[in-house]
Amino acid sequence: MQKIILIGFMGSGKTSIAKILSENMKLDFIDTDKRIEANQNQSINEIFANHGENFFRTLETKTLEEILKEKKSAVIATGGGLPIRDENQTLLKKMGKVIYLRATTDTIYQRIKDDNSRPLLNTPDPRQKIRDLLEERTPIYERIADFIIDTDNKPLEQIIDEILFDLKLIC
Ligand code: S3P
Repeated sequence: MQKIILIGFMGSGKTSIAKILSENMKLDFIDTDKRIEANQNQSINEIFANHGENFFRTLETKTLEEILKEKKSAVIATGGGLPIRDENQTLLKKMGKVIYLRATTDTIYQRIKDDNSRPLLNTPDPRQKIRDLLEERTPIYERIADFIIDTDNKPLEQIIDEILFDLKLIC
């Protein structure tokens, strides 16, 4: 049984890459945000608006615990803030190989600027918010990653090839 977990900031390509990777490796695909939305029957925006960020973070922890119990191989895309909590870091490391998809503020801003599905970036200066959150989160992403893939200016196929290459080295 093998679980491969993609972590990284919003807009780093976790969901698109995890989907392709899962098809390529013939494994299940799991998206923690989509699972939370389905379980709650609410969008992420609604969960944040109705219950606040802390409640959402607790749902992330519960979702990780649930996935950990499932004895099935999968490629898992995580929400960008999921690794913030210490307990989630422990759960992720227990679960499988953690891959950090790294991207710069500019890349992220270009990718998400017209998308209003992310409550944390719904601010007057989203670029500054990205910078601040990245500063806070980068050390965590880097610490828990088994390997890091830089994604700036790379086509998806190249990112997938690099992941497959690195997985062969460590698995
Ligand atoms: C969040 C990232 C989002 C989603 C929520 C909070 C974050 O997921 O979980 O809006 O704190 O970075 P994506 O990284 O898939 O956008």
